[in-house]
Amino acid sequence: MCGIVGYIGRREVLPVLVRGLEGLEYRGYDSSGLACFDPEHSRIVAVKEKGKLDQLKARLEGFHHNGCIGIGHTRWATHGAPTRDNAHPHLDASEQFAIVHNGIIENYERLKTDLLRAGTHFKSETDTEVFVHTWGRLARKIRDVREAFRQTVLKCHGRFAFVGMSLKTPDRIFVFRRSNPIVIGAGSGEYFVASDVTALLPYTREVIYLEDDEMAEVLRSEVKFYNVKTGKRMQKKSIRIDWSSEQAQKGGWPHFMIKEIHEQPDVLETALAKRIQKGRIVWDTLSKKAEARLKKIRKIFAVSCGTAFHAGLAGKYMLEEYAKIPVETSVSSEFRYSDPILEKEDMVLLVSQSGETADTLAALHEAKERGAFSLALVNVVGSTLAREADAVIYTHAGPEIGVASTKAYTAQLIHLALFSIYLGKLRGKISNQNLKTLLGHAKKLPAHIRQFLVKGKAKVEECADALSDKPNLIYLGRGYNYPTALEGALKFKEITYKHAHGYAAGEMKHGPIALVDKNLPVVSIAPASKTYEKMMSNIEEVKARDGIIVSIGTRGDEKLRLKSKYFLEIPSVPEIFSCILTVIPLQLLAYQAAVLNGREVDQPRNLAKSVTVE
Ligand code: F6R
Repeated sequence: MCGIVGYIGRREVLPVLVRGLEGLEYRGYDSSGLACFDPEHSRIVAVKEKGKLDQLKARLEGFHHNGCIGIGHTRWATHGAPTRDNAHPHLDASEQFAIVHNGIIENYERLKTDLLRAGTHFKSETDTEVFVHTWGRLARKIRDVREAFRQTVLKCHGRFAFVGMSLKTPDRIFVFRRSNPIVIGAGSGEYFVASDVTALLPYTREVIYLEDDEMAEVLRSEVKFYNVKTGKRMQKKSIRIDWSSEQAQKGGWPHFMIKEIHEQPDVLETALAKRIQKGRIVWDTLSKKAEARLKKIRKIFAVSCGTAFHAGLAGKYMLEEYAKIPVETSVSSEFRYSDPILEKEDMVLLVSQSGETADTLAALHEAKERGAFSLALVNVVGSTLAREADAVIYTHAGPEIGVASTKAYTAQLIHLALFSIYLGKLRGKISNQNLKTLLGHAKKLPAHIRQFLVKGKAKVEECADALSDKPNLIYLGRGYNYPTALEGALKFKEITYKHAHGYAAGEMKHGPIALVDKNLPVVSIAPASKTYEKMMSNIEEVKARDGIIVSIGTRGDEKLRLKSKYFLEIPSVPEIFSCILTVIPLQLLAYQAAVLNGREVDQPRNLAKSVTVE
C-alpha cells in the first residue's frame, strides 16, 4: 500500500521519479506527488495531485527542473481523504524538510497534540505530517539532520517506511524501514529507492533490501547503513535480481492482467523445468537440514490471504492426499490472533506473491515465536517473508503488476502440487511409478493452458457477454475445485464490482439455494473427480430452480454440456492438477466481464497490490 520512490544521482530527477511511480502505481492510486531539490533557488519544490498518476503528470507538463535528487509517492489513503493536501510528500513549516511515508504511525495523535501545543500548523489530515514537523524541529535543536531523522523514527510507533530529504543536507536522502518494504538500487554514481523492486528494473538489478529497523543515508557515491536503535553503522550486501524491465511492461497488451493470464503457460513451463530434473523433484533453496525437518513434520498450517489463501486451501487437498500430512488452513489475520496450538514438529506454510503482506508476516512471527518450522512459498525474491522464514521456495512467476492475481496463483498451485508429491515421495507414500505418471501429466499442463487460451477464448467471451450485467453470481466447487470456486468469485468481484460468492457445492442446500432463480448465474466447476456425481446433483438442484448454469468440465462430458447454458471444457488430468486448469476460464471470464463493464482492470477501486497494513 502506497508506493515510495527516491533518486539521487546525475540524471534529471523528474522523469526518474515519474517512471518509478508508474512502476508502483499498482500499490496505491488515489493521489500522488513528488518533491525535489531546486539547486538554482536552493529550495524544495513539491508537486502533488489527487487521482491517478496521470493527473500528476498533467500538472507536471511544462514544468522544468534540473535537480538530480528527489522523492515521490503514490498513495492508498489511510488517514485523511485522497485530496491534494493529504497527498505526499509532506513538508515542514520551514519547507526545508520533506517526507514520503508508507504504513501507519500508530501514536500520531499523541505526537500531533504535542506539536499543536508547541504552535505547529498542520496542512493535512495525515498521520505522516507529524513526522516531518518533528524531524524539522529536532534537526534545528540538535543540529544534526541524520540523528534527528533517527530520533524521529524512534518516536513513532507502528510499521512503516519513510524516505526524506532536507535542504540542510542537499546531497543525500534518508530512508527507514520497519515491516514495510524498501529496496535500494545501485547504479553507477547514482542510487534509486523504491517500495518494490519492479520500479528499479529500468535502471538496475543490483539491489539492497533494508531489514526492519534499518536506516540508510543515501549519497551519490555511497550508502551508509545504520541500526536505528543503536545508531551504529552496519554493512550490507547487494543481491542481483533476475527479472527484466520488459517483464514489468504491458508489451502491447491492453492490461497487465490479460498479459499475465497469457503468461501462465510459460510460468508453468519454467517451474516444471526448474523443479523436475532427471525424473526427480528438486528444490534449489531447501537445505539438507530443512529436508530432514520436512521428513518429520507432524502437521501443516497453511496460512495466507486472499488469492494466496485459496492456493493454500488447494494445497491442503494436495498435501493430505499425496504426503498424508494433516493440514489446517487459516487466513493470516485470523491465525495470528487465534492462539494456534503449534508444536516444534509442525510446519507453518506461508503463501504469498509479494512476500510483504503484513498479516502473513505477523503470522510468520507468531509461528517462529512458538518454535514451529516456517516455509515461505513466495514470488518476490528477497522479500521480507522470504528472508525471515526458516526456508523458502520461490514460485518464479516474474513480476505480477495487475492487482488481481493470476499467474502468481497458478505458479503457487503448481509448486504446491509438486511439493506435495515431493513430500509424499520423501516420506515413502508415493511409488516410483506413481511419481513418473504424475510428473508426466504435470509436464503437459502448459500446453493445455495454451490451447485453452486460443480455443476457449471465444466461448468465455460469449459467456461474459451474457453475465456482465448480472448483479449476483454464485460459484460452486468441491474438493480440489472448492478453492477454484472461491478464487473465481474473488476474481469476478474484485474487478467487476459485482457480487460473486464462492461456496463448497455441498453447502448450497444449507442456505445459498434461496438465491437461485432465473436471473442467477451459477458457475459450477465440475471436472471429472471423486465428487463428480455429487456436483451433478448440485447442478440439477440449480437447474430445477431455473438458475443459469455455467460449467467448467472435462472435455467430452456431454452430460454436463447438456445441463449447462455455457460449457467451458478443459482436458482430462489427475484431480491434483485440475484446479490449475479450471481457474483459467474463470480468470478470463472475470477479465472480460470487467472490460465490458468499463472497469479499471489493473487498478480496481479501493484495492492495492501489496497489503502492508494490518
Ligand atoms: C486478489 C489478490 C489478493 C492477494 C492478497 C495476498 O487477486 O491479489 O487477494 O492474493 O492480498 O497477497 P500476497 O500474495 O502478496 O500475500
